[in-house]
Amino acid sequence: MPTAPAQRATAVPNDLEAYWLPFTANRAFKAAPRFIARAKDMHYYTPDGRAVLDGTAGMWCTNAGHNRDPIVEAIRAEAAELDYAPAFQFAHPKAFELASRVAALAPGDLDHVFFCNSGSEAVDTALKIALAYHNVRGEGARTRLIGRERGYHGVGFGGISVGGMVNNRKLFGTLLAGVDHLPTTYNREHQAFSKGEPDWGAHLADELERIVTLHDACTIAAVIVEPMAGSTGVLPAPKGYLPRLRAICDKHGILLIFDEVITGYGRLGHAFAAERYGVNPDMITFAKGITSGSVPMGGVIVRKGIYDAFMRGPMHVVELFHGYTYSAHPLACAAGLATLDLYREEGLFERARKLEPVWAEAAMSLKGLPNVLDIRCVGLTAGIDLASRPGEVGKRAYDAMDKAFHEHDLVIRAAGETLVLTPPLIVSEREIEEMFATTARVIKAVA
Ligand SMILES: Cc1ncc(COP(=O)(O)O)c(C=O)c1O
Repeated sequence: MPTAPAQRATAVPNDLEAYWLPFTANRAFKAAPRFIARAKDMHYYTPDGRAVLDGTAGMWCTNAGHNRDPIVEAIRAEAAELDYAPAFQFAHPKAFELASRVAALAPGDLDHVFFCNSGSEAVDTALKIALAYHNVRGEGARTRLIGRERGYHGVGFGGISVGGMVNNRKLFGTLLAGVDHLPTTYNREHQAFSKGEPDWGAHLADELERIVTLHDACTIAAVIVEPMAGSTGVLPAPKGYLPRLRAICDKHGILLIFDEVITGYGRLGHAFAAERYGVNPDMITFAKGITSGSVPMGGVIVRKGIYDAFMRGPMHVVELFHGYTYSAHPLACAAGLATLDLYREEGLFERARKLEPVWAEAAMSLKGLPNVLDIRCVGLTAGIDLASRPGEVGKRAYDAMDKAFHEHDLVIRAAGETLVLTPPLIVSEREIEEMFATTARVIKAVA
């Protein structure tokens, strides 16, 4: 009989020195490590068996919950069946099956899928496809890429160039040339404590017209935005903003890319946020939720016209000189298929949509607690801005995250001075209550 996760103990190494943790305060971590050894459904288990509620779906990725049996079984079976097949000039059946399933979930004529292994790779792939697409159509002067302030598009050079989070950019040189940024859609004065999409801010899309006027449309390849800016602390798109961006891109022949690495696969109550907003971009990037975080995978969904533009020239010649050794890896495809089945069988996207008002109510109940400057939420996401202590930007949120884990059995995320909650879509109403009650407790504790 299998041992329940809580009953097993896991050995922890004495020497923590060699591992350089990503996006982590390494010295603080190694002084008081937040170890996770096992997981099941809504919970993690520490090496000594303490159950910790997952308030963040890992990092916005375990949308179906942790270690779900059908996904585990699919990975196990595929590992025994096909460990690897070359991704270039050869393929395995599940790659095609998964591409069809992903395309079927996407809106409009977004019907071809290019696979990679992460959100960062998906973003760089989409940017490269945009540049190459204009080239193959004889509009090679369209080389400019437009991102947005406070945007996060991963950590490749393409992604940090179009991204707009200063700490991710400032130490890494000149980045890509020819990149401009739209202004952030966030304005506390006009939007504080909005539930869902704020009423104010659609006009900020018009800044794209200003950028077009400056450079001329014939130099601009693509605009990339997150429908909801997640990593910067949950900034939902203002009402009407995305349709306006779409209209301006159409007017000027500019491709519109939605980075749905976070918003894809149910986070905002739909397969993709594009559906929630009734806006069809030209490309959608995805990752994370495609396998519910179980095996790394990312990808780009492109409109038919983009794919078709490349399908020319001699039959034996490669049409796009781009790809990864692990594009459409068999384990990732098997995990992806099992995950999409689970989303459908359990109606998890609809579940997120149904829970959204309950979630928003619980999040907003924290208004009025010490140092809470703003709360934002959309779908099953919430960002809670805290006031910084003098000279210690980010320390209050860090302390809250640390206390939540060590003292209150809850994983929340600290993004700068914002606490972020984004649970698996299987979360229950009782667990939502518990998450925000605990968050309230730690906010008071760091006052
Ligand atoms: C919108 C968005 N794009 C890209 C990425 C990068 O994904 P990855 O960390 O898998 O490279 C992230 C990660 O959080 C993201 O939120």
